[in-house]
Amino acid sequence: MTTKNKPNERGRRGRAGTAQPGAHRSKRKPAEQALRRYRQILHLFVENSPAAIAMLDREMNYIIASRRYLSDYELGEQNLIGRSHYEVFPEIPERWKEIHRRCLAGAIEKADEDPFPRKDGKLDWVRWEIRPWHETNGEIGGIILFSEVITERKLAQEELRLSRDRLAELSRRLVEAHESERRAIGRELHDQIGQMLTALKLTIEIAMQLPPEQALRKAAQEKELVEDLLARVSALSLELRPPMLDDLGLIPALLWHVNRFQEQSRIEVDFKHSGVEGKRFPPEIETTAYRIVQESLTNAARHAGATRVRLEVQRRDGWMEIQIEDDGAGFDVESALAKNRGLGGMRERVQLVGGTFQIESEPGKGTRELIRLPIREETQ
Ligand SMILES: Nc1ncnc2c1ncn2[C@@H]1O[C@H](COP(=O)(O)OP(=O)(O)OP(=O)(O)O)[C@@H](O)[C@H]1O
Ligand SMILES: [Mg+2]
Repeated sequence: MTTKNKPNERGRRGRAGTAQPGAHRSKRKPAEQALRRYRQILHLFVENSPAAIAMLDREMNYIIASRRYLSDYELGEQNLIGRSHYEVFPEIPERWKEIHRRCLAGAIEKADEDPFPRKDGKLDWVRWEIRPWHETNGEIGGIILFSEVITERKLAQEELRLSRDRLAELSRRLVEAHESERRAIGRELHDQIGQMLTALKLTIEIAMQLPPEQALRKAAQEKELVEDLLARVSALSLELRPPMLDDLGLIPALLWHVNRFQEQSRIEVDFKHSGVEGKRFPPEIETTAYRIVQESLTNAARHAGATRVRLEVQRRDGWMEIQIEDDGAGFDVESALAKNRGLGGMRERVQLVGGTFQIESEPGKGTRELIRLPIREETQ
């Protein structure tokens, strides 16, 4: 290829134009030797510089390019000298060609981040500065291109921004979940406990106006109401957070919950566990595991019409695996998750502790969930 040979001529002869390839070193004039040495040093300096630098002539042909330039633009080991910049990068946009023309006319231009769509379809981001270089006679001999491919940094920034957004969204939802929980407790207090207390107050008021014998009979009713109230308050507080989860750990709390669930729902739960008995895990893992089982059992009772649920909690390597399977109606998972209620919250909880969440269901085919929570740091 003729273009390949030109560069060497240009590179060697260059602006001095007097190199004699065959000539013996000692015969050269000292000035010429000095110039040659100077040029060698310049080449070494540019080639080895830890920055992507290229020097081009007025026709936009390469005079020199640093190794970093070749590697940053994934040009391999090819020799660029003498080749046209636009042949090496056919994807260079017209916008950049205009910039080159302006710089060849004397301008200095730069950009902190500029998109560079590559010919393979990839989008690179580049920080660059272009300035003209001058011949000894003062004329512009071409341009110098300093550039840095910042694609990775840009992607990392983008990733950071996305995860910040996700985090903000997550905390917004957590606040929302917190509020709706409070609303539910408020409703329970107002509708159930409040009503029972009102009834109790009325009964006491009536009793106070009755003769002692009848008042005593009313007291029996009052006692019943108070017992109901106590039961409701303790159910409410257990519902909020069973103390055995803190005091005894996950498995006893689950056993208690499963028993209560079976009694209330008449759904049979086949609960198996292995490798987790008598062990304690970080509180957020125990809470997450407990809430997941709670939500899944509630869903199986509320939506599935299931008759049996299989629940298995086992330890596998550094993970706690929870499998929940019901024989109920099944459902369309995608659209259910989009509602962002119980299941969505469950998935978020799992992600928050670094676990994985899989759910398989089809109308008419029951539901299977597999949740894996990391338990590398066992606390006891
Ligand atoms: N095990 C299941 N079997 C059949 N359908 C289910 C099951 N689990 C969930 N679904 C369906 O998916 C939907 C979403 O469930 P999700 O738990 O997210 O919300 P929810 O139970 O309706 O409300 P919340 O959990 O906030 O009280 C349910 O309304 C139901 O239609
Ligand atoms: Mg639910």
